[in-house]
Amino acid sequence: MKREVNVQFREPTDFGDVEYPSALVNVTNVCNLSCSHCFVFRADNPNRPKDKMDDATMLHQLEALRDRHKIRSMLFMGGEPMIRRDLVLKAMDLFEQSSIVTNGTYGIPSAPGHLVTVSLDGPEELNDAIRGEGVFQKVKRTIFERDQNDGTTVILQMTITKENAPGIEEFVEMVKDWPVDGVAFTFYVPTKEDDSGLGWEDLGERDEVVRRVIAVKQKHPDVVKSNIGALELMLSERCLEVTGEHGEHCGLRLMLPLYMGEGGNFERTFCCYGNDVDCSRCGAYGVFNGYWHRKQQGATSG
Ligand SMILES: C[S@@+](CC[C@H](N)C(=O)[O-])C[C@H]1O[C@@H](n2cnc3c(N)ncnc32)[C@H](O)[C@@H]1O
Ligand code: SF4
Ligand code: SF4
Repeated sequence: MKREVNVQFREPTDFGDVEYPSALVNVTNVCNLSCSHCFVFRADNPNRPKDKMDDATMLHQLEALRDRHKIRSMLFMGGEPMIRRDLVLKAMDLFEQSSIVTNGTYGIPSAPGHLVTVSLDGPEELNDAIRGEGVFQKVKRTIFERDQNDGTTVILQMTITKENAPGIEEFVEMVKDWPVDGVAFTFYVPTKEDDSGLGWEDLGERDEVVRRVIAVKQKHPDVVKSNIGALELMLSERCLEVTGEHGEHCGLRLMLPLYMGEGGNFERTFCCYGNDVDCSRCGAYGVFNGYWHRKQQGATSG
């Protein structure tokens, strides 16, 4: 006779009863890279590599959080999520819509029907100055080695900082014939007292870079995924309307950020970009794109 095993899993942290249509989860705080711009490993975020949750508990907790908060879409992140590839591929099935953002150094996961975003921060020299020596070539190799007909949508994402901004146009020219479904851009999200030199002191200075992304989109509309309406909202005369000085207008705050906290329990941060963020200089493309889409819907629904 088959014996029934009644396994009791640890229940997830109580995040209240708010509905979150989307969420992100850092499945691990471990990463094989140490990128200079990375918000995850900033001082006051939950990010200790020794804080871990086993696969079965994580699957149980993600399902429980999905049901409690009506989460429909989940972004799998880290650290490097592909360090826990099997878990991620299983957990993706729990949600109506799942996507992964990966550094691409462990190969590109095959996730038919899903979006996999591969981070690459410009042409080789500029990328490797941020992501580490040899990373560009390694990621390029994995992109070319993947099965292009497996039904996975793969896009490259360049996070633009003051340091790699000079490489935008060259990057698009270089990757436009690669076997991917396009290139996306997002901009650096600084801390409140950011002295990394990666952000722009003055939003006016960033405007010049935003305009260059708009120009590159106009030149390669099928390759560059960013939409011009959203990019225009990033310009200094409009951006605060979208974010607020302290994130008070930000639509991305409706996303539940599940960071891996103390003792391997989920903790939420102020927003997906962690706790210490300067919303008045936020460069998260998703914030502006979301706002643009909501405006469009408002306009069409009268
Ligand atoms: C934190 S990483 C985690 C997933 C994976 N390790 C990777 O690098 O893609 C997710 C994305 O955030 C971007 N990112 C890191 N630090 C950032 C910052 N300060 N501002 C905006 N985007 C940032 C990365 O370039 C990457 O595309
Ligand atoms: S690979 Fe991703 S998680 Fe790792 S340091 Fe770089 S940006 Fe951060
Ligand atoms: S940093 Fe950006 S994404 Fe985070 S709350 Fe502020 S405006 Fe929103």
